[in-house]
Amino acid sequence: MSRDQIFSVKQPHIVDFAFDAKVAAVFPDMIRRSVPGYETVIPITGLMAARHLSDGDMAYDLGCSLGATTLAILQQTELKSVHVVGIDNAPAMIEQARIQITDPRAQFVCADLNDVAVTDAKVIVLNFVLQFVAPEARLPLLQRLCTQMRTDGLLIVSEKVRHAEPVRHEFYDQTHLAWKRANGYSELEVSQKRQSLENVMRVDSEEIHQQRLAKAGFGDIAQWFRCMNWASFIARPTQLADHT
Ligand SMILES: C[S@@+](CC[C@H](N)C(=O)[O-])C[C@H]1O[C@@H](n2cnc3c(N)ncnc32)[C@H](O)[C@@H]1O
Repeated sequence: MSRDQIFSVKQPHIVDFAFDAKVAAVFPDMIRRSVPGYETVIPITGLMAARHLSDGDMAYDLGCSLGATTLAILQQTELKSVHVVGIDNAPAMIEQARIQITDPRAQFVCADLNDVAVTDAKVIVLNFVLQFVAPEARLPLLQRLCTQMRTDGLLIVSEKVRHAEPVRHEFYDQTHLAWKRANGYSELEVSQKRQSLENVMRVDSEEIHQQRLAKAGFGDIAQWFRCMNWASFIARPTQLADHT
């Protein structure tokens, strides 16, 4: 696994973060050292998704990057006719995902997730991607996913979240930065990456996530994981949630 050193040298101008070839080349190391709980969230989402799938079912991994979640789902099921479609709009990510994941049940598509129909999806996963979607596009996206997916479907959403209580938020935020330094990132790397993400990664509170999921038509909403300012939610289309 190549080591992430993208922000190790002082840059004269910090440009907005992009999921380009440089990032794709070091992505597994970058995300493992930057997102607390990533190494728990991915295998458990894979397990929850796989348990929800029957033969012939479709799952979508939206914002799949190198396909870690797609792989985690497929590793947890022996069913021969399940299909997992990984969608990402970064060509470098999709190119690498296609090389690295050769399971015939996986398919990778380079597209904007706003443009992809998820008709009949039994499982949809949005792992650490909604935070990169324009804030005003988040509710319409979730409404469409809720309408298009199967009524017995499962949605999994993992995100960085802002704690509603400012002092608590700051405590988690500072601890997160200390954790990154403990993982080998220098002060310069931490601050340059933070600046680079400022305009592209816009974080909502846990309450906003839960309210928006409900407004989009989901019910049975639960936060199943939390580590400081990182959380993961599950939800199901309301029609089913109301009857169980
Ligand atoms: C933090 S990464 C997601 C990591 C991945 N889900 C995982 O758990 O390993 C965010 C990904 O979302 C993709 N992305 C951001 N906006 C997107 C959009 N509108 N359509 C498709 N992919 C998008 C980026 O290219 C990037 O690969």
